[in-house]
Amino acid sequence: MKTLIIKEQPLTEETLQRLNQIIHQGDLVVFPTETVYGIGGNALDEHAIAKIYAAKGRPSDNPLILHIAHEDMLSSIVEDVSEDAKALMRCFWPGPLTLVFKKKESISPRLTGGLDTVAVRFPNHPMARQIIATANVPLAAPSANLSGRPSSTLFEHVYEDLYGKVFALVDGGPSTLGLESTVLDVSGDVPVLLRPGSISADMIETVLQKPIIASQPTKADDVPKAPGMKYQHYQPRGTVKLFDGPESFMVQAMSEAIKQSKARNLAVIAVDEIASLLPACTLYPWGSLYDPETLAKRLYERLRNMDEGHHDEIIVHGLLEDPLSQAVMNRLEKAAHEIIKK
Ligand code: TXA
Ligand code: MG
Repeated sequence: MKTLIIKEQPLTEETLQRLNQIIHQGDLVVFPTETVYGIGGNALDEHAIAKIYAAKGRPSDNPLILHIAHEDMLSSIVEDVSEDAKALMRCFWPGPLTLVFKKKESISPRLTGGLDTVAVRFPNHPMARQIIATANVPLAAPSANLSGRPSSTLFEHVYEDLYGKVFALVDGGPSTLGLESTVLDVSGDVPVLLRPGSISADMIETVLQKPIIASQPTKADDVPKAPGMKYQHYQPRGTVKLFDGPESFMVQAMSEAIKQSKARNLAVIAVDEIASLLPACTLYPWGSLYDPETLAKRLYERLRNMDEGHHDEIIVHGLLEDPLSQAVMNRLEKAAHEIIKK
């Protein structure tokens, strides 16, 4: 398939109409959001849904997020919007918070991996909002990466993974946040955090004035709440070794590992504060330990750099305890082949 590449910013009316046509004929459009790029298709069209799973190579039991451009679109998708959900929508929509609701009968089980709930997000990116509003249907849009690969935060990433597999790629430049949205299940009595992100559990609890359940399934969990959690994620082709613990431990253990490595082409991803204490190595700077926004924004770019540089072993380390750093760690633990903890 020859893929249409759209680089104009802002989008013209003519382009929006062209994208509208592509969406309504059941084809796919990759578009930017403030979190990561999404691969979108008409959520009400079974053929478009099937094409999304095929283009990504995604297992069919891993449900898709629906993207809307105004709250009115919600009534055709979900059964009920609780007071908790309403309060969160007032504070965080549009933005990087995905809410999981009981779905309407009419929403295809193919979209939800057979679940009776549906995930909905109202992105805060002008191009995403214009594309969805013009199409005037919810767009199913998982992250625009091949299944198992790091998410896409630069246009080069979506080009590499999806050129030739979708009808159009829309270039919106680098993603501002770089980490996928927080996923919160509001379909039951007590909200459950399914995937951490820029909107933290604390921020949610402050709005709701009550505790939520912060379940973060680990690799060992048998029945993850967010079906996507059980799959291999974000992994570069080389072996990722993640060192975590007090800073002095990380520096010492990483230094040993660098000196003793038998890798053909070792790489280290490290924050400035740690990098300056390591022996000579091929270093990919990550940012400052005290600047979690930059660490979140660069994570997937760095993981993709590992394949570009043909690194067969990758050494990386833990971050601080603030919620955003820990959301980054949630992704990094999934990307790691080995975790060395103190
Ligand atoms: O920031 C984002 O959320 C990006 C951009 C493109 O909007 N999208 C994204 O989609 O990250 P995806 O498909 O890569 O991740 C969606 C996550 C998966 O872990 C999936 O299992 C979970 O949300 N999910 C979707 N529907 C669900 C449901 N009904 N119940 C529980 N988890 C659900
Ligand atoms: Mg994804």
